[in-house]
Amino acid sequence: MSRETLIDLIYLISATTFLVALKGLGSPKHARRGNMVAASGMLLAVVATFFKYVDGHPLHHVLLILLGIFIGAIVAVPVARFVKMTAMPQLVAIFNGVGGGAAALVSITEFVHIKSTHPATYVTLEVLLGVLIGTVSFSGSAIAFAKLQELMTGRPVTYPGQQIINGVVGAAALVLIVTILVNGSTPLLWILLALAFVLGIAFVLPIGGADVPVLISLLNAFTGLAVAASGFTLGSNLLIVAGTLVGASGILLTRLMSAAMGRSLSNVLFSAFGSNITASGATDREDGRSVRSGTPEDIAVLLSYASRVVIIPGYGLAVAQGQHVLRELAEELEAKGIEVFYAIHPVAGRMPGHMNVLLAEANVPYEQLKEMDEANSELQTADVALVVGANDTVNPAALEDKTSPIYGMPIIRADLAENIIFLKRSMRPGFAGIENELLYNPKTLLVFGDAKDTLTKVVASVKAL
Ligand code: TAP
Repeated sequence: MSRETLIDLIYLISATTFLVALKGLGSPKHARRGNMVAASGMLLAVVATFFKYVDGHPLHHVLLILLGIFIGAIVAVPVARFVKMTAMPQLVAIFNGVGGGAAALVSITEFVHIKSTHPATYVTLEVLLGVLIGTVSFSGSAIAFAKLQELMTGRPVTYPGQQIINGVVGAAALVLIVTILVNGSTPLLWILLALAFVLGIAFVLPIGGADVPVLISLLNAFTGLAVAASGFTLGSNLLIVAGTLVGASGILLTRLMSAAMGRSLSNVLFSAFGSNITASGATDREDGRSVRSGTPEDIAVLLSYASRVVIIPGYGLAVAQGQHVLRELAEELEAKGIEVFYAIHPVAGRMPGHMNVLLAEANVPYEQLKEMDEANSELQTADVALVVGANDTVNPAALEDKTSPIYGMPIIRADLAENIIFLKRSMRPGFAGIENELLYNPKTLLVFGDAKDTLTKVVASVKAL
């Protein structure tokens, strides 16, 4: 078997591991193993590439490549190991941006290479698409990172004529691509690069903080496509397969997230969602209704005398880092013979699978996590729905109020339980910025305070009962 055939065979094995890994990522139980399988496949492909012959010669600049890998590992490994769970979306954003930037650099290098070897006008479309998409992904991800890291406002940044200006910049980039295809002009390539950079920034500015994870998933798909374009340019089947997989899965994930929020992708990208806060933030309302607030001890009593408790976690649980003490509470209740399970909304938190990852970190058994539909079918018979740092994902306005911005979003039906407990710090709304009628429901008891602090007190009281 020739060296080339062997390396192609290894690439095929690597591509297969990516598919197996994607299957594994479909369930929290196998996600870790899926990741390991993909990482092993990638390692195999990288090692095989060192033995590849390019144009009949062994790989050039091996030391430089090894130095790059070394620096990348030195930076990325500690960052990934020590990142806080709430900072995971911005980590994904920055890693994704670096990937897009790398794909754009490969395309630029290839452009220069083509120009020096075919000085006439031969430039291929995928090289230019690689520059455009990779650069949009790079600068867009950088802004997404800045928003999530609070280096700039997380609210949508809008100005008059914004979408028209973006449209004009996008159209200008496409015209440039056609022109470069015809005349191969290098100066025009630099203008294309600058336009793509501006486009990435302008595209992300009007998107609100909590919608940014959807955008990151879309930019991730862009990076995948840019990598696939590099694969065509370099004649690498592996890059084509890997890039296409990332592109396709990124687009699917983006669609799934939008659907789980009951919104279209264009609404997520262009409506500047989250810029209007309409919640009054009042504990007493003009219609005479007011919230009923209680103490951790009140909750402990309510929980201890229940026979079925459904815990509904949300973004606030991640902010409070209360997952460990929440698991402790669940264990205390189970020890008293109370049935406990967790109801997981697909877009609870700020990134896909946020609650699954958070609870897995606290060693909550997978069997106790129920997806929305299954949980909803059982909430009617629950004595207590314990809402910990969730808001929009339990807001009945999504079902009842046609004028609500979240109308159409499927929700966890906390309202069906006999008693509802909310753990939150204030009357501030969730991401959507809207009032939640459930807070004023006579069945609802609010306990104000940081979720971790409150849960710690509840655990102590439950133990004492
Ligand atoms: P949210 O509706 O955002 O509500 C979070 C709640 O947590 C707030 O009411 C907040 O109230 C409370 N909170 C914050 N910090 C807290 C702390 N330390 N202790 C106790 N409570 C705390 O959360 P959700 O129900 O998880 O909904 C997620 C939202 O994000 C949805 O609108 C969804 O569409 C959107 N979104 C999600 C995703 C993904 S993929 N997950 C992507 C894009 C958008 P206080 O400030 O009063 O404490």
